[in-house]
Amino acid sequence: MRLLIVGFGTVGQGLAELLIEKKQQLHDIHKLDVTVVGIADMLKGSVYNDDGIDLATALEAAKANKPLGELPNAYDGDALSMIKAAKADMMVEATYTDIKTGKPATGHIRAALENGMHVTTTNKGPLALYYHELAQLAEAKGVKFLFEGTVMSGSPVLNLIRETLAGSDISEIKGILNGTTNYILSEMEEGNSYEDALKKAQELGYAEAVPDADVLGWDALAKVTILAAAGFGARVKPDDFPCKGITEITAEAIAEAKARGKRFKLIGKVWREGNQVKGSVAPEEIDMSHPLAGIMGATNALTFATDTLGDVTIVGAGAGRIETGYSALVDIIHAGGK
Ligand SMILES: NC(=O)c1ccc[n+]([C@@H]2O[C@H](COP(=O)([O-])OP(=O)(O)OC[C@H]3O[C@@H](n4cnc5c(N)ncnc54)[C@H](OP(=O)(O)O)[C@@H]3O)[C@@H](O)[C@H]2O)c1
Repeated sequence: MRLLIVGFGTVGQGLAELLIEKKQQLHDIHKLDVTVVGIADMLKGSVYNDDGIDLATALEAAKANKPLGELPNAYDGDALSMIKAAKADMMVEATYTDIKTGKPATGHIRAALENGMHVTTTNKGPLALYYHELAQLAEAKGVKFLFEGTVMSGSPVLNLIRETLAGSDISEIKGILNGTTNYILSEMEEGNSYEDALKKAQELGYAEAVPDADVLGWDALAKVTILAAAGFGARVKPDDFPCKGITEITAEAIAEAKARGKRFKLIGKVWREGNQVKGSVAPEEIDMSHPLAGIMGATNALTFATDTLGDVTIVGAGAGRIETGYSALVDIIHAGGK
């Protein structure tokens, strides 16, 4: 498998680490030999070679904040031109998420699919906005379009729906899709104010300096939209669903709920109602006996209500360098492994 990596930040580098570490395992178990032919990154610079680049050297340079443009096989062009010209079997798209426009990732994905490459992305923007268009393009081109990392990073969710739960009717998917807000709510239950909990989340690197995407629920909303579109086949956009974040929950309300045996969680959910697919993001009081109530800190979790197995709950990481890099790795194995 000849691979192109577009966006060489946290996730791109996490994947590179795994490709190096698991090279032998990929060969022995999955009969998969991955050669990275190109890396395109706006800030760090780009490298490309038809015969493969030196991944370990590129990773070392990126970690040391040295420009990739100073390495052998430096590429002097933007990501789009590399994708259009590359001789590669698969592209990993891991540039930043723009949930309002899906740019520039959607353009990268379209170009890679047009060029006959399988695609895996961890970027929520293109999925929440253009899932059906991109999936149709992939089908027309006879390639795979995979995006495991967009919901709960590498924790198995989308491949679970696609494969293991394929024989079940799923009536509802509901859970904790944003680690930052779950961390803040957990801290507030310990007696911290919202402001102090947010500050702590920022210090730990969970929350951005401008935390709106997390605390107003937009990040969870993007994931709910992806679950509705890719999981339930609905033609929906994020604006179709009501969305409320955690900014209006007070420490008093949390303490009062606790006294009644309940716990506030920011819940993202999609469910079927007749022929319709509904979705929402909002704080909910969850009964302490429900598996989602026990999910504290930055952990994520999703409960699938199925006709065959009852409730199935997946608990796991929702972010992280290796965890999200792993989502791309598992998609690469699905696309190219045996
Ligand atoms: N980190 C996680 O835990 C996690 C979890 C799930 C999903 N994701 C998603 O995965 C994606 C990557 O996340 P990340 O944490 O790796 O972000 P990151 O560390 O900011 O890396 C993104 C990289 O892509 C580069 N880039 C941006 N626009 C580009 C373009 N047009 N052409 C080439 N390179 C471009 C960025 O360069 P500049 O520095 O110049 O912008 C940056 O180096 C995001 O969409 C994110 O939402 C991340």
